[in-house]
Amino acid sequence: MSILIIGTGYVGVTTALVFAELGFEVTGLDADERKVQTLSEGKLTFYEPGLQDLLDKHLAAGRIRFTSEAKQAIRQNSILFLCVGTPSDENGSADLRYIRAVAEQIGQSMDDYKVIVIKSTVPIHTNERLTAWIAEAQPHPIPFDVVSNPEFLREGSALQDALHPDRIIIGSRNQAAGLHIESLYEKLNAPCFLTTPTTAEMIKYASNSFLATKISFANELARLCEQLDINVGDVSIGMGYDHRIGPHFLKAGIGYGGSCFPKDIKALLHIAKKQHTRLSILEQVHEVNETQAEHFLQLWERKIGGFAGKRIAILGLSFKPNTDDLREAPSLAVIHYLTSQRAQVRVHDPVAKLPASLQSAGVRQLEHLEDAVAGCDAAILCSEWDVYRNADWEQLRDEFKQLNIFDGRNVLDRQRLTELGYTYSGIGNAA
Ligand code: UGA
Repeated sequence: MSILIIGTGYVGVTTALVFAELGFEVTGLDADERKVQTLSEGKLTFYEPGLQDLLDKHLAAGRIRFTSEAKQAIRQNSILFLCVGTPSDENGSADLRYIRAVAEQIGQSMDDYKVIVIKSTVPIHTNERLTAWIAEAQPHPIPFDVVSNPEFLREGSALQDALHPDRIIIGSRNQAAGLHIESLYEKLNAPCFLTTPTTAEMIKYASNSFLATKISFANELARLCEQLDINVGDVSIGMGYDHRIGPHFLKAGIGYGGSCFPKDIKALLHIAKKQHTRLSILEQVHEVNETQAEHFLQLWERKIGGFAGKRIAILGLSFKPNTDDLREAPSLAVIHYLTSQRAQVRVHDPVAKLPASLQSAGVRQLEHLEDAVAGCDAAILCSEWDVYRNADWEQLRDEFKQLNIFDGRNVLDRQRLTELGYTYSGIGNAA
């Protein structure tokens, strides 16, 4: 059986490689010829652990290929997965222009029955809209089914998540089409929940919103713990033993970022507003996240007598470790705050690159950690890459001007750093 994956971003490429690994013939289709060329040469266009080996393996075995020839690719495959982006519009709603363009292409090109599967995160009722767009684009009616099958991959551990999913959600009006898609995942041995397309669409938004709620809950609690001299990390550990709560996504920090949580929460709030229904909890989840970095920056600022004129190192640019993705990264809010306070900012990240706009604002990225912290009055850890956990903080001590560590992810060893003479402050653990 052959599968077409439309859109070769991180979701598309991961999905394509996982299906190749499960033994299917896979084609990746993308309108961007440069991307197609790069992937065909065996190079990834983004950083994601584990994918390079699979790409090498399946290109060599001829199990995966990439093309920009849409018509031919659509005709040659009977299962089409849509993995194109759904960015946020100015009002927070999801922009479906890529989904629509692909729908028209499918409608115009298909010459026999297809199952079209939506993997991208899309607003409620997109399944129906996609069905209508495809039908409208067809020169004459040809049967097809549209199935909603949201993805639950996390950047940085996408492969692991895709190979060992907690569940597979399939929303289909036609049960046979739903079962057909379910059978693709058979070898993964994961629970599969077959439901309606709108429910599947809502499950995706609700899941991301709930995870973000857990994080904002921990983050707001951290503000109180900071005042009461209680370690919020220990509170989370204690809460997490209760299996009804669970230990995951309760880690306080400077806020969540990435291409999913902020965008999906805005999209769900927009959907609710259109239905004249208030999601007040989710509004606060967003609000806490928007203010979290600044809340702690203001506390730290007081500790070092203001940021103005100080040299500050940012450790970790990406929105979380093991990715080069800077979308909605909390580090960017931190850098903007620091530059607005006239601090000199130095940046280090093992993979992610500083945007040109920040370079022209005088922020410098250094390749080596010791150069990034050299002459600094403080370092602020924004994403918890292992290089910072495992750094030789004893040796780094000689580079700093003043030994202040602000740990925005609560991952460094406070006791050891304190023994080495650093002044350590984390999130909600009142050092
Ligand atoms: C998220 C979801 O976890 C995936 O299930 C989903 O498929 C994906 O969005 C998506 O919709 O495509 P992702 O954004 O890649 O995945 O990353 P997460 O690991 O969820 O982290 C998001 C943010 O939350 C990061 O900035 C991270 O640092 C932060 N976070 C996470 C915390 O601050 N505390 C935690 O306890 C966990």
